[in-house]
Amino acid sequence: MFVWSKLSSEKWADAWEERFAGEPRAVITRIAGRSTIRIEVYCEKKKEAEAISKQFGGSVRELKAQNWAAMSQEQPPPVKVRGRLLVVAEKAKTKLKEIEKAHPKLQVISIPADMAFGTGHHATTATVLRMLVDYAKSKEGQPWTMLDLGTGSGVLAIAAEKLGASEAWGCDFDDKAVRVAQENLVRNRTQNVVIEEADVLKWKPSRRWDCVAANLFYDILEDVFPKIVKSMSKHSIVFVSGILRTQADDCLKLGEKAGLVFEEVVIRGKWVTARGRLAGRK
Ligand SMILES: C[S@@+](CC[C@H](N)C(=O)[O-])C[C@H]1O[C@@H](n2cnc3c(N)ncnc32)[C@H](O)[C@@H]1O
Repeated sequence: MFVWSKLSSEKWADAWEERFAGEPRAVITRIAGRSTIRIEVYCEKKKEAEAISKQFGGSVRELKAQNWAAMSQEQPPPVKVRGRLLVVAEKAKTKLKEIEKAHPKLQVISIPADMAFGTGHHATTATVLRMLVDYAKSKEGQPWTMLDLGTGSGVLAIAAEKLGASEAWGCDFDDKAVRVAQENLVRNRTQNVVIEEADVLKWKPSRRWDCVAANLFYDILEDVFPKIVKSMSKHSIVFVSGILRTQADDCLKLGEKAGLVFEEVVIRGKWVTARGRLAGRK
């Protein structure tokens, strides 16, 4: 394993996030007490890391097993969502128990930094998590199911079960992300979440879900909107994210053309997330 890394000013965080959007091996860490961020990309082959270095500068080092462990001790801060969820990087069972005890009103989700997108820190994930909490609140006492297209670390599907979903299915085309997500399912003791390797561009919807999340980027969403529509029924809700502000109008128009209507659009930094339903079927 090789890691490419570079330090940058925090003011460029959005630009780096954008540059590595959709790159599940990329990790951006804010360094506590400094206005600096560290950008890292974990690569299996040295030449992959060197290609990034050639493009963006920075350095490449081999990641020995002990370095890997050391890295994972440096944890990003927890993410609290609407007083219902706490996404933490902690993975030690005893420490997780302590966190749960200290936050009895929150559902704690453990997502250690790994080679999958979705620690809860990125604007796209954080906004979908908020929308998911609001949706779960509206469904309290009623069963609901969730489809998670482009699951990354599995954070949204795991959150869905913690918030009351009776069933969730997620997929990602990146085998490393799927492995990480499946480990996260075990770590978070989920019972009814299944995550499989699948390319959403080839995947065929076979049933309807109450809640669909697709944090997937514009170019993928463009092709996937009709499949999202086929996965929804008249009461279903959809969260689409991963859309750059500059592309949002075009992207949401394509969603509307496919049969969706968007009821809430949230802009955070350069990222847009939208909540929608099937058009004309409230
Ligand atoms: C922005 S991340 C979202 C991860 C997580 N759902 C979240 O909200 O934090 C997008 C994920 O979609 C996956 N992805 C991109 N294109 C895909 C495709 N064609 N089929 C399946 N997964 C895809 C990427 O590997 C990545 O894990």
